[in-house]
Amino acid sequence: MKVNMQVSLIAVMTLCGKISPGNLGSSEDRRLLEDIRAITDASLLGAGSLRAENAEMRGPGGSLPVARIRALITASGQLPWRERKIFRLGPRPLVFTAAHRVAALVEELEERAEIIGLPADGQALDLTAACRYLSQQRGVKKLLLEGGGGLNYQALRQGIVDELLITIAPKLSGDRQAATLLTGDGPLGSPFLGLELMSCRPAENGELFCRYRVRK
Ligand SMILES: NC(=O)c1ccc[n+]([C@@H]2O[C@H](COP(=O)([O-])OP(=O)(O)OC[C@H]3O[C@@H](n4cnc5c(N)ncnc54)[C@H](OP(=O)(O)O)[C@@H]3O)[C@@H](O)[C@H]2O)c1
Repeated sequence: MKVNMQVSLIAVMTLCGKISPGNLGSSEDRRLLEDIRAITDASLLGAGSLRAENAEMRGPGGSLPVARIRALITASGQLPWRERKIFRLGPRPLVFTAAHRVAALVEELEERAEIIGLPADGQALDLTAACRYLSQQRGVKKLLLEGGGGLNYQALRQGIVDELLITIAPKLSGDRQAATLLTGDGPLGSPFLGLELMSCRPAENGELFCRYRVRK
């Protein structure tokens, strides 16, 4: 059952749907992301993105507000914590993982993160349970999903996403190795999951800032 919380998925992608490598968007897109962080209570990032990049999820002007939650999700528990700034700078991150991995991760990360166990939803961890925890235990009203493709797919498959904030960069990749907006097994709908375009603003540099609502 959907938790009473606004969940927005944000990404910048090429016209062919690729979301990597990093620095795909312009400085205007980066500012938009930071501004949205400032009006949401928490961000959630997949472990694959943290393994790929030194993500810190900072707000406007490089801010790291004490009260804003920076959450990660990993089923494997493979987090490159020694090399990632998020474990050293700002409020300590919250890590969602499989219930059976909690004790081992607490021992490994010590005080560097707060570890929360989640039940499974099929092959993946239950994101509705993550939302319920954030809403009920941490008072989160607005959650920002920051990707990447694995988390985005699971979030849509598990029905927790209300809207997508997608920047379409005027770029093409074509590289099959590059991450895509959604990575998962099987179509999300029959065969498509429908979206409703709520707004679309072109920037002078050719980027399109689009907001879609997920049709329920
Ligand atoms: N352009 C953009 O807007 C943007 C934004 C973010 C990321 N990216 C790019 O995306 C790429 C990474 O993509 P990715 O597909 O690896 O995505 P990801 O979603 O960052 O990571 C996937 C991993 O997250 C964990 N995970 C996510 N949802 C889960 C769930 N429901 N249950 C259990 N575990 C879950 C798993 O970690 P474990 O493997 O540890 O179990 C899974 O393998 C990078 O190249 C990054 O630069 C681009």
